[in-house]
Amino acid sequence: MSHSPLSPRHVAVVGSLNMDLVLRVPRSPQAGETLLGHDFALHPGGKGANQAVACARLGATVKMIGKLGDDVFAIQLRETLGAAGVNHDHVRTANGPSGIAMIVVEDNGQNRIMLAPGANGSLSAADVQNAAGEIAGAALLVCQLEVPTECMQSAFEVARQAGVPILFNPAPAMPLTPELLSVDYLVVNETEAALIAGLPVNDRPQAIAAAEQLRQAGAATVLLTLGADGALIVDAAGTRHYPACPTRVVDTTAAGDTFIGGVVAGLQEGMSIDSAVQLGMQAAAITVSRPGAQPSIPFRHELSGQDTAASGV
Ligand code: RIB
Repeated sequence: MSHSPLSPRHVAVVGSLNMDLVLRVPRSPQAGETLLGHDFALHPGGKGANQAVACARLGATVKMIGKLGDDVFAIQLRETLGAAGVNHDHVRTANGPSGIAMIVVEDNGQNRIMLAPGANGSLSAADVQNAAGEIAGAALLVCQLEVPTECMQSAFEVARQAGVPILFNPAPAMPLTPELLSVDYLVVNETEAALIAGLPVNDRPQAIAAAEQLRQAGAATVLLTLGADGALIVDAAGTRHYPACPTRVVDTTAAGDTFIGGVVAGLQEGMSIDSAVQLGMQAAAITVSRPGAQPSIPFRHELSGQDTAASGV
């Protein structure tokens, strides 16, 4: 596994594209309750597309591999990728609907997300193999879990054979085989870390224990995001904690995706993992201060570029 600075080549993102149907509500309804919300909006989203757009807006060159449907949402989702400068030659079209996410955002900014995979569910190992050249020629492979796991297996195989480092964000979380956990960078939040490590993650010491368990399971570097408590880096050099950047929380959707975009852009520029994580946290702080997934992801010029000091763990 490689921990040297990434080459200036493109980043390959294999993942999902969703249209997000977003309803803002004062609080989440109880079962059987009808609740009056206030704003409704459609926003381009999907973890794969969000991460691709975040990488691009924050400075990386990006090629995406994925699948859209043949509906009206597909047109806007493809246009948004293109506008961000993401190459979408390997985002294929399937008959039927594109992926959608129904997102409820409470007034405190917390969200609840339900997905229908649509075309994301038909992305196959063969589709990934068709883009093998783009993965093998990449500086880094970035994957999540909103497309079938056979796609990850196929992409990881190509990347490993070509010596391309892998950043894996196993979201939505599910139990993973050691093969899928043996990556260069594993990026998880508390919920994902708890489910995958099989340990409770309710405070920072528990988060560190879960991250160490994920390292023992094969991940070289674990980046564990802790929401308002910042992020942990656990790697061969030890454990560091970085506090979150101050922000006003409007909508947490795509915060994790933006964090990943910042980490990837930083690594591609030759930053240390610690500086790249701080870049990711600065970008995520802006994302949570704005509504929506892709509309909230900042451009690089919006970031202050100031590193923060690691605190004790
Ligand atoms: O990570 C946020 C994303 O999760 C949303 O954009 C939604 O589409 C779901 O995939």
